[in-house]
Amino acid sequence: MLWIKNVHLLDPMQGISGIGSLLVKDGRIAKLVKPGEELNTTEALAVLGADESEALCQLDGGGNYLFPGLIDVHVHLREPGQEEKEDINSGSRAAVRGGFTSILAMANTQPVIDHRALVEFVRLQGERAGKARVYPVAAVTKGLEGRELTEMVELKAAGAVAFSDDGRGIQSAELFRLALEYAKLTGCPVISHCEDDSLAGQGVMRKGLTSARLGLRGIPASAESVMVARDALLAGETGGKLHIAHVSTKESVRLIRAAKAAGVDLSAEVNPHHLLFSEEDVQLTESVYKVNPPLPSKEDQEALFAGLMDGTIELLATDHAPHTWEEKAKPFDEAPFGINALETALAAVWQELVIKRKVKPEKIIELWSANPARRFGLAGGTLKEGAPADLVLFDPEWRERITADSLESKSQNTPFLGKELQGFPVMVWVGGKLVLNRRKVQD
Ligand code: DOR
Ligand code: ZN
Repeated sequence: MLWIKNVHLLDPMQGISGIGSLLVKDGRIAKLVKPGEELNTTEALAVLGADESEALCQLDGGGNYLFPGLIDVHVHLREPGQEEKEDINSGSRAAVRGGFTSILAMANTQPVIDHRALVEFVRLQGERAGKARVYPVAAVTKGLEGRELTEMVELKAAGAVAFSDDGRGIQSAELFRLALEYAKLTGCPVISHCEDDSLAGQGVMRKGLTSARLGLRGIPASAESVMVARDALLAGETGGKLHIAHVSTKESVRLIRAAKAAGVDLSAEVNPHHLLFSEEDVQLTESVYKVNPPLPSKEDQEALFAGLMDGTIELLATDHAPHTWEEKAKPFDEAPFGINALETALAAVWQELVIKRKVKPEKIIELWSANPARRFGLAGGTLKEGAPADLVLFDPEWRERITADSLESKSQNTPFLGKELQGFPVMVWVGGKLVLNRRKVQD
């Protein structure tokens, strides 16, 4: 039994922001003492159904934020098959370090998560790791080949919470339409990696002035946006549940806004790196900036920010994509796409959006906890009584230099390596179990 006192509670689902306290019992939130309310020890013990002799652990949060654990719907954990980059254990340690108590593990592993046994494997490995809750995403098509649909109903029964061929776009409109139809039987969203191969070609960065100057092959913004348009139309026609991954262009934002206004069952996410870095950051010697979809123009960035602020885009997600040092040391042309993000994303977003752009902290929690829980039907996302005690105690003043040694992830492909960031989780609980405690270090 735990009483976390003197914390700034943030719970956008209940519209709460202010100093209060919270009681945890049997892995769940037993009582939320809202701002302005009082609770004495006798009352707390009564809530917990305990007598004075039983141990009640009291923790002074020192005025730090306490919010529901973040839920990241876009994570590449690489297990099975590419454990040199990451595995479910290292990835879930990285997750809790970054404030994520639930993560969705993408299906583009080797082998691809397209069978019942593989879905169960990911789920069980997540449980064994005992850190964040790991929810498997199953593939839409067998082997991510874009030809034959997986057995979605069976995969859902095994524990899949969504379907995606992320890493590749599904080129056949007919197949994607069918996928939306079949996914309806499961109630799970289809997460679309919107990329038209004929337009993307062999491109390695966004097509524009910078790609021309660097002599790198470009990917036009339309490679993403034509697929957003197609998928939104198909979701509208079928009534399927669609989630657009890593939105990165202004046209995509415009299309999503229009589709939502027309009543399409559609949600979308933005990745922090698309808000924080642009095509202008790309350098031939820095493959860390090679991501798919590629870093956008400054104009796109403003549209992404506006889309997040006006509710067009309801989720933040990392697209944590770990790669080894050797792979990322290759020339820009040859290196794989992807940024390592779980442990730096919240601090980076805090600095850019909360400190610089004056976005309210509760908006960040809405985008990264409440909304993902709602959209994907997951536990958590709120401090409501009875909800699982998936909690983050967050110190907005905590500063830290990111180094290869400090990262829990097996990979270091982050643009923040060697840099200092501010605003980190200091304690994290999943189902009432303390899975991260950094207070000892700096207290
Ligand atoms: O940058 C990316 N990396 N984008 C993707 O869509 C896939 C991912 C990966 O798996 O490395
Ligand atoms: Zn993707």
